Amino acid sequence: MVDFDTRTGSAIADALSTSGCYIGPSIFGTELTLALGRRAAALSREGKLSGASVGHHDDAPPDAAHRGDETRWLTDAPDDESERDALRGMQGLRAELNEALYIGAHDLQMHFAHYAAGTSYTLHRDRFVDDEARLVSFVVYLNAGWPDDAGGELVLYADDDSGDVLARTLPREGTMACFLSDRFPHEVLPATRARYSLSGWMSRLPR
Ligand code: OGA
Ligand code: MN
Repeated sequence: MVDFDTRTGSAIADALSTSGCYIGPSIFGTELTLALGRRAAALSREGKLSGASVGHHDDAPPDAAHRGDETRWLTDAPDDESERDALRGMQGLRAELNEALYIGAHDLQMHFAHYAAGTSYTLHRDRFVDDEARLVSFVVYLNAGWPDDAGGELVLYADDDSGDVLARTLPREGTMACFLSDRFPHEVLPATRARYSLSGWMSRLPR
């Protein structure tokens, strides 16, 4: 099966090199996206997601006021087939971005995220002030049949404190966002239904 669409990979590289951000078709095909959506919903149902912490210490307490999602990290060698395919596909994109942009992203981490109805993630940047490892952020949305009026948008802002909105994206299955982690303050708006995604970061090797 094809788990990485190279044409989309090139489009993402082009967008990152020009504007620093890409929002468009996902690198994953429909079948994989559906499988990942089922997987995320099952993990959530089984209580295998846990409250996300803010900051880069996994043992930091969850901060529900700032960030309402529950997450589960993928391991390097997942048992689940859809997770393995997603990891392979995203490694493909990472290699492509390294070749096209010379960014030196040698590490990849990703997690499922579930935002229950009404929860959000307030305005933030993805690169921690005390850690410059994160280079590229990505989010693959896993929600089939997401209505126009269900909320849950990712809102990306210009990096100049103008408050200008660069993009506003519904978390619809088949859509993917990818942007340079040190730019673009962004937020996740509350939705009227459960919102699933697979998101993560390409990073420099940990020091
Ligand atoms: C994040 C994030 C955006 C989204 O997890 O850091 O900003 O649309 N996610 O889920
Ligand atoms: Mn973020």
